[in-house]
This record gives sequence, C-alpha cells and structure tokens, in this order.
Amino acid sequence: DEEKKEHWFVGSIDQGTTSSRFIIFNGKGDPVVSHQIEFENLYPDSGWHEHDPMELLSSVEECIEKAMQKFEELGYSKSNIRSIGITNQRETTIVWDSTTGEPLYNAVVWPDTRTKNLVRELKAKDGAATLTEACGLPLSTYPSSVKLRWLLDNVEEVQQAYEEGRLAFGTVDTWLIYKLNGGANAEGGAVHVTDSTNASRTMFMNLRTLQYDDKLLGFFDIDRTKVQLPKIVPSSDPKAFGKVASGALSGVPIAGCLGDQSSALVGQCGFSPGQAKNTYGTGCFLLYNVGTEPVISKYGLLATVAYDFGRGQKPVYALEGSIAVAGAGVKFLVNNLGFVSESSKITELAESVKDNGGVVFVTAFSGLFAPYWIDDAKGTLFGITQHTTKGHIARATLEATCYQTKAILDAMEKDSGHKLEKLAVDGGMSNSDLCMQTQADISGIPVDRPGMRETTALGAAIAAGLATGVWEVLEDLNEVNQDGRKVFRPQMERQKADRLFKKWEQAVEMSRGWVQ
Ligand code: G3P
Repeated sequence: DEEKKEHWFVGSIDQGTTSSRFIIFNGKGDPVVSHQIEFENLYPDSGWHEHDPMELLSSVEECIEKAMQKFEELGYSKSNIRSIGITNQRETTIVWDSTTGEPLYNAVVWPDTRTKNLVRELKAKDGAATLTEACGLPLSTYPSSVKLRWLLDNVEEVQQAYEEGRLAFGTVDTWLIYKLNGGANAEGGAVHVTDSTNASRTMFMNLRTLQYDDKLLGFFDIDRTKVQLPKIVPSSDPKAFGKVASGALSGVPIAGCLGDQSSALVGQCGFSPGQAKNTYGTGCFLLYNVGTEPVISKYGLLATVAYDFGRGQKPVYALEGSIAVAGAGVKFLVNNLGFVSESSKITELAESVKDNGGVVFVTAFSGLFAPYWIDDAKGTLFGITQHTTKGHIARATLEATCYQTKAILDAMEKDSGHKLEKLAVDGGMSNSDLCMQTQADISGIPVDRPGMRETTALGAAIAAGLATGVWEVLEDLNEVNQDGRKVFRPQMERQKADRLFKKWEQAVEMSRGWVQ
C-alpha cells in the first residue's frame, strides 16, 4: 500500500485576489509542479473592486492545463492525481443565472466598499446588535451578505432573476466547483455547494449549527425561496464537491475546499488550540486556533470556522484578525506611484533608509479592518517632511501591516487571556526578511517562517488528501513542511517598539472620519 501511495499526488487550486495558481503536491507535501496567472483587478469607481467571474474560471483552467503539461513531462499522468482541493479568496460574491450558468454581474471583491452607506443604515436597524453572536462577524462592508444585498438593490438583472427564482449565489469556491463540474449542464445535475469555512464568511451561516440561519437571512431581507444558496458541507469529503468535467483533469474528484486563510492554517499544520498563523497576501490575516468551541470576540476580531474535516469530527474554530491591505499596499507603490518595477523590489527600496524617518502610512484603502473596523477611514500618509524619500514611504508601507498585526495580537491576548508564544507566517510579504524582522520587533514575539511558503495551496491539498486516503490521520502530516524554517527574534528595545506603535495609533485616529 505504501508503495502505491508513493505515486499518489494531490492537486490544489489557489484562487486569490490577484492571481490564480494550480500546484501539485506529492505525499510528503512538497510541491512538484505549479503554474500561476495574474488576472485583471477592476476598480470601476472609488472604493469599488471587481473581478470578471469568467476570467477567474479561465485563469484556473489555464493553470491546470499548464501545470499538467509540466507534470506529464516528469513522466506522470492524471491517474497519479488522487484528488484536488480548492482554496480561494473569501467573501467575494458572485451571482449567476441557474438556468444558464451565466454570471449576472462582475464578482464584488472582498475589500470593495460600495456598501458603506448600506452598512451604516443596517447598523441602525433592529437586530443589528445580535448578529455577531450568531455568525461571528461584525457588520461591515467585508462579508458577502452586504454585497448580495447591494446587488439585489442595484442591479436589475439580479433583481429579476431573484423574482423569477433563477438567482444562484456563491463565493468563489462555489462558483469554481459549479463550473468545473460542468455548470448548469453537469452530468447528474448542477453541483452547488460551499464548505463551512467559506460559508462562515457570508454572515448567513450560524457558527454553531453550520447551517443557514433564518434570522441572519431575514436581517438582510434575503428570501431563501427566491435565491439558491449553496449547500454547506465539511471542508474534506470525497463526494460532496463532485469532479472535474473536462480538460486535463477530467474525472478527477474535487475532495477538499477551504477559504484561503483557513487553508493556510491547515497548511501550517496549526491543528492545536493556541497555534496561530499570519498570511501576508493581498491582505493579511491572522488566524488563532481556539479549538472546537467558537470564541466571540469583544475586541474587534472575527470568529470563524478554521476547518471542518467532517467524518464525525467536530469543526475547529479560530479567532481572526483581518487586515485589508498588505501586499495591496506594495502593489499600490508599484502600480500607482511607480516607486519600483515589481513588488519584490520594495524591500531593497525600504532598506535604502535606516528607519521610517518619522513617516507612518495608514494604508486604509478599504477603510480599516481588524481590530479597528473604521469604514470611513482613508489611506493617510503621516509625518512627511523635506527629509522624506521613497525609501521611507516603502518602509512605512511594510510597517503598516506589522503595526496592525501587533494591534490584532493585543486584541487576541485580551480575548483569549493568553499571549501568543510565536507567530507562524507565510504569503508574499513574508519573503521580505526586513518585514519579518520588523514584525518580530514590533510585536515582541518570534516570527517563524517555513521554507515552503505555498501553505495556502498545501492546506486545500491536505483537505483533499485526507478525504481520499493520501493521508489517513493528522499525525501523518507531522513531517510535512518542516525544512528550511527561519525564526526572526525580537531585537528592538521594547520601549522603542512601544513608542513607534503609539505613533501608529495616533495616525490611525487621523485616518478616520473623511467627509464623503
Ligand atoms: O478575506 C479575504 C481573503 O480571503 C483574501 O486573501 O490572500 O487574496 O489576500 P488574499
């Protein structure tokens, strides 16, 4: 049996905010081949952020085809792939016509703030105060609920499909699974599902029952008889997600599905309560494993499903600190201000100066998320003098994520009563030694970075592999991704770190309350 397993591989689709990728892992959790494609982010108006759902799909399909070509060049074939997993940007909302499978609008992407006024109105409505207790999320522009409500109120085609009972709703996982299975014409009927980690980001799911909650739907005035909501299933299952209908993987089962931040926690093997990871992607998300009972935050964090491996096991929950802008801040310096030619060069620019020169950049492009939740905050560059250079601003951009992470760690300590001993990290910005050293200095705890940083994709592969016998139990993963770790230890004097953080907090106050 072990011999047979040596030829088993698991594929993972990682559909993120700026790129899609497909990675094939072997049974040791090592990536063997991969392909990545960046696609277009659309900003049709200030605060609006969209993706073309068909482009999300085609980018994924192209990644699969290209990675499979490389896999075949190594002498393997589709029959070596036991199953695939899907991990995805969360909250992003897609609506389509269930009779044709055609999207009815662009995907409204998670940091989009067009719902700002709607959120203000909803906050004043009866029942607003009890939502978080049921679903774990604060009312803000972030979850899918307000995005769907906006689409119903503002897009005629969506409204009409709703009235005629042919409106299908989904997050990106749901959309991809539906389409990969063959869409409206899938053999054996359309597959319209989501896993509980993704569903926990909609604001429609009750965190304890892991089912849709009529009170939550009612609050947003969503009539379940008019909109088709995906069935909520565990994150690891050999059948629930169907199989790929066509292309290089045709016939291969989809057996795992996790929102990307949950997936990174799984990929870091953060299976014990008290373990935490911070993923520096487009945004930055810290997830802290709290075990099998959800903890509702009093200090601005989210309660979410960390993972749910089904088969009679209880779901595991996390406290989450969500930062809307991390890598997106670096991209802003590259694309909008032309500071350097590509994101990977930002560290070099930041290293051209010895410190931030007094500059603080509150990168509140989508308001500020955890732990502040200031919907009307705007990006604010603070402390500029004649001395300021691009290097200082680059440094302040990297530091912004480190300060917000520190604020989240403080909130987590208050919510959980425990100080985190170390922080596991991954994601694009974690490649920057300068940024990780700054993180350790500001937060005062060691930062632990694995050698293989594709932990998000690995998590979904693990979920799929657990469902299809590649790994039987979590202990089988003990050796996964242990090589090449680097630990960054705090070196800055505590007093200095506290002084810098105080200045950040002052800058946060100055970023709020922008007149519309
Ligand atoms: O909640 C949004 C998050 O899932 C997006 O992740 O990696 O694309 O920043 P990322």
